[in-house]
Amino acid sequence: MAKIKKVGVIGGGLMGSGIAQVSAAAGFPTTVREMSEDLCAKSRQSIEKTLAKGIERGKVTVEERDKTLANLRFATKLADLADSDIFIEAVVEDLTVKNALWSELDKIASQDAIFASNTSSLTIIAMATASGRADRMIGLHFFNPVPLMKLVEVVRTITTSEDTERRAMDFVRALGKEPVRARDSSGFIVNLLLIPYMLDAINALESGVASVEDIDKGMQLGAGYPMGPFTLLDFVGLDTAYKIAEIMFAEYRDKRYAPPPLLKRMVLAGMLGKKSGKGFYDYSSNPPRVSALGL
Ligand code: NAI
Repeated sequence: MAKIKKVGVIGGGLMGSGIAQVSAAAGFPTTVREMSEDLCAKSRQSIEKTLAKGIERGKVTVEERDKTLANLRFATKLADLADSDIFIEAVVEDLTVKNALWSELDKIASQDAIFASNTSSLTIIAMATASGRADRMIGLHFFNPVPLMKLVEVVRTITTSEDTERRAMDFVRALGKEPVRARDSSGFIVNLLLIPYMLDAINALESGVASVEDIDKGMQLGAGYPMGPFTLLDFVGLDTAYKIAEIMFAEYRDKRYAPPPLLKRMVLAGMLGKKSGKGFYDYSSNPPRVSALGL
């Protein structure tokens, strides 16, 4: 089958923008589809900002930035992505939205094109039928922030062909990332282990084992983790962690994945972590201080 030359990224939010950036930086002509001109502009600006920061820190050269931007296009119409060899979907974590997209794409994409979903918690097989090309459907699960995180989980379903998996693995390597193979079960490798760990930290806090700061310090200095579980939760986004836990709980019916009441209360209160300015920590001061949680 044909090698991947052109890339289509659907959704230019946090993940889609990052994926488009690494794809364009690796030399692939890449088109991002967003819902409006404004959202296209927002995605472009966020990529430009990340590249500018990279230059400031000496991690990206001016030539690399120019090459990346020259490889990037933005579009509101799916038809403008029709000649892509791989479509990477990074739209909202909602199966109905994703499946509507796959069936629309199946009508315009070339026969060989691979459909890849960046879903965090849905199973890939739940999209394979709607895609109309179950053998060319795969999961490519990137990590945030995409330009910095090396890992991509490559998720093969019971219907994915060997050729699709091989082309997807080669593509991931061409992006300069490290692929690992995972089975198509909710959470794949990383979230399967990480979500219960983060939820346990919240349970430990609620049951009074220790403070936010001491639990974070404990795991950082005692287990050698680069950041403690509450700093990590704030970074991932409490709403995202909550949603993933809910989906995994529905899949496995195991209390290890049940979101603790405190997590739900914080999401309802709009305390979503870094992105909203406040989660387990309050980011309005520098350094951030622990939020009052009424415990
Ligand atoms: P986000 O909310 O930042 O971005 C989603 C974007 O998709 C929005 O900009 C929205 O306008 C756009 N969109 C919605 N429907 C669309 C459509 N039909 N066509 C084109 N664009 C559309 O969400 P985020 O965080 O980037 O997540 C996207 C996907 O990546 C989700 O499936 C999520 O589970 C997954 N993911 C998220 C990670 C994270 O750390 N946030 C990590 C790995 C995967």
